[in-house]
Amino acid sequence: MKKTIASGNRASGRLHLGHFQLLKYWVTLQDEYDCYYFVADLHALTTMYQDTREVAEYSRDILIDWLSVGLDPERSTLFVQSQVPAHSELFVLFSMFSQLGRLYRLPTYKERLREDETHSLVTLGFLGYPALQAADILIYRAHAVPVGLDQASHVELTREVARGFNRLYGNVFPVPTTLHPKVANLSGTDGRKMSKSYDNCIYISDGPDALQKKIGTMFSNPERKRRSDPGDAEKCNVYEFHKCFTDAETVVRIKAECADASIGCVDCKRILLENMIEALSGPREKRKRLEADHAYLDEVLRKGRERACIAADATMREVKKAVGLL
Ligand code: TRP
Repeated sequence: MKKTIASGNRASGRLHLGHFQLLKYWVTLQDEYDCYYFVADLHALTTMYQDTREVAEYSRDILIDWLSVGLDPERSTLFVQSQVPAHSELFVLFSMFSQLGRLYRLPTYKERLREDETHSLVTLGFLGYPALQAADILIYRAHAVPVGLDQASHVELTREVARGFNRLYGNVFPVPTTLHPKVANLSGTDGRKMSKSYDNCIYISDGPDALQKKIGTMFSNPERKRRSDPGDAEKCNVYEFHKCFTDAETVVRIKAECADASIGCVDCKRILLENMIEALSGPREKRKRLEADHAYLDEVLRKGRERACIAADATMREVKKAVGLL
């Protein structure tokens, strides 16, 4: 029997290169695991409830990104979270024993609330974000969760929820582990964290013109001011991108040539640009075909929903029996 993994992307924007690295990792897990990958549209609503117009559009766009980088609906179950009601049902049961103090203390919650000046996030839904995420994972009795490092605290909470439920009602859930891909740490074009709200993203779907513009103005190593200054690749954002898009031999060469100033930032970026255009051209071609094929996309989601519901409903029966509702 294969082990099960579950993971998702929040439908709050287009997917950028941070996601791209994670998706490529998801692709490699498809044979070894029974994979449940979902678009978390309910999680998008926790922050976008005042203006929901774009959520469905983002959901479809994310599905297209997934298929274009090689997630395979024959091997993996691909679906939209809100189409599988058991996620919400399990969340309600978890909310009975989830301690508010624990949720208030989560670093992701505190950070986001600090950035939000409008108080629009002082809501039950936003506080419950990680408990809903726990339901997403545990509804498939997943053994592992492939996510970026930024999600570590949410998976930790999920582990606590699983243990808490098992202690109260009996052993229903495995305690899942985190699977972190070993990838470079890509910052946005301005050197800050890559994020839609900073307008510094490079998207998976960006074409050659957008890539040229973004890489041309990309923040490199601020300590290397003149072409003749020796650089230090370890302090350079552009170098992190090379680690993802450039072959290992060239990466080593660029680092050495930066250190003795025999290569300048302009040439270094030109090499990166060529490699990125090349790496993203396959997905772009595939995206073009998929965008026109609504019937196929609908069919992928219909099949995914059906498969996900079968697994989720089976868990829900066990859960209800354990709690004493059945
Ligand atoms: N919170 C995750 C993110 O922002 C998205 C997500 C929702 C998720 N539910 C999940 C990830 C369950 C893994 C498992 O990226």
